Amino acid sequence: MKKNFWEKLDKPFFCLAPMADVTDIAFRKMLAKYGKNPANKNQVVFWTEFVSADGLCHPKGRPHLLPTLKFSKIEKPIVAQVFGANPANMEKACRLISKLGFDGIDINMGCPDKSVIKQGAGSALIKNPKLAREIIQSAILGAGGLPVSVKTRAGFNKEEIDTWIPELLKEDIKALTIHARTKKEMSKVPAHWDYVKRVVELVKKSGKAIPVIGNGDVVDIADGQKKSIETGCAGVMVGRGVFGNPWFFSGRKIETVSITEKIKALVEHIKIFDKELLKTKIKNYAVMKKHFKAYINGFAGAKELREKLMATETPKESVHILSSFLKTIK
Ligand SMILES: Cc1cc2nc3c(=O)[nH]c(=O)nc-3n(C[C@H](O)[C@H](O)[C@H](O)COP(=O)(O)O)c2cc1C
Repeated sequence: MKKNFWEKLDKPFFCLAPMADVTDIAFRKMLAKYGKNPANKNQVVFWTEFVSADGLCHPKGRPHLLPTLKFSKIEKPIVAQVFGANPANMEKACRLISKLGFDGIDINMGCPDKSVIKQGAGSALIKNPKLAREIIQSAILGAGGLPVSVKTRAGFNKEEIDTWIPELLKEDIKALTIHARTKKEMSKVPAHWDYVKRVVELVKKSGKAIPVIGNGDVVDIADGQKKSIETGCAGVMVGRGVFGNPWFFSGRKIETVSITEKIKALVEHIKIFDKELLKTKIKNYAVMKKHFKAYINGFAGAKELREKLMATETPKESVHILSSFLKTIK
C-alpha cells in the first residue's frame, strides 16, 4: 500500500500548531521561508487555522471560509484542520478539502472555546466518544484517501487518557496530537509531558504504528528534541513558541537575530498580510496587530515603537513607522 506522508517523515519531526488568527497564510509563509530550510533537513508539518465543517457546508459560510484554507507550496507538507459535530457535514467538508491539495486532514477535538463546545465540537467530543468516532469515520469517508488525524487534549475536566485515547485508536487515524493539558486547564498550567509518554505507550500497546505528536510549552528546537527523547513521541508541535519568531524551525536562536532583522521581517510579514489577507478582505488589520508585540520587544525604544504601531490603522502607516525606525539604528 502507498505510504501516507506521516510514514515518510524522519523522527523527530516538528509541527506548526494550528492557531486561529495567528497561523494564517501570511505568518505561515514567513515561518516557511525562514524556517523550512531544506539544507538543515528540518522537517516541519504545517497546520492551517481551524475551519468549521458546518460553515464549509453552508452556501453562505463557504465563500468566507474557503479563503482561510489557501496555502502556498513552500508550506508543504500541510494539514487542514477542521472542527464539527455533525458527521454528514464532516464528510462533506472533508470531501471539499480533499480537492484543495492538502497532505492531510486533522480533526480538532481539543478546542476549549465556548462557542465551539456549545456545538458539541472541539474538546466537547472528549465527553462523547461515540460521536467522536462517528466524526472520524465520516472524515475518512470524505477525505478520499488523505490521511485523517486527530488533535486532542488529555481530558475534559480531568485527565482521562486511559479511557479517551483508546476510543480514538479504535478508528483508522494516521496520526495523533496530544496537547498535554485538560480542557479545564486551558493553557494556564505547565504542560504535563508525562501524559505524552502515556499516550505513546497506549498507542504502542494498541499495535498501531501511528506517530504521536506531543504539544505544550515547547520553547525551541532543542527543547522539542529533548521532549521527544524523554517521551518517545515521534513529533513535536509548537504553538506560542513561534510568536514573533519566523526563524523558529531553522533552529536559530532568537537571541542571535538582530533588531534590524526582526524589523525587516515584520515589514515583510505586514506586506504579505496586506496582499494575501487584507486586500482580499479575508482578515482585518487588527489580526496583524497581534504580531507587533511579539516582534517588537527586548530592545531600547521597543515600548514606544510598539505603542506607535498599535495606534496605526493601515499597513502603509505601520510600514512607514518601521522603515523610519530602521534608519535610526543604521
Ligand atoms: C491564539 C491561539 C489560537 C489557537 N487556535 C487553535 C486552533 O485553531 N486549533 C487547535 O487545534 N488549537 C488551537 N490552539 C491551541 C494550539 O494549537 C496549541 O495546542 C496550544 O497553544 C499549546 O501549545 P503551545 O504551548 O506550544 O502554545 C490555539 C492556541 C492559541 C494560543
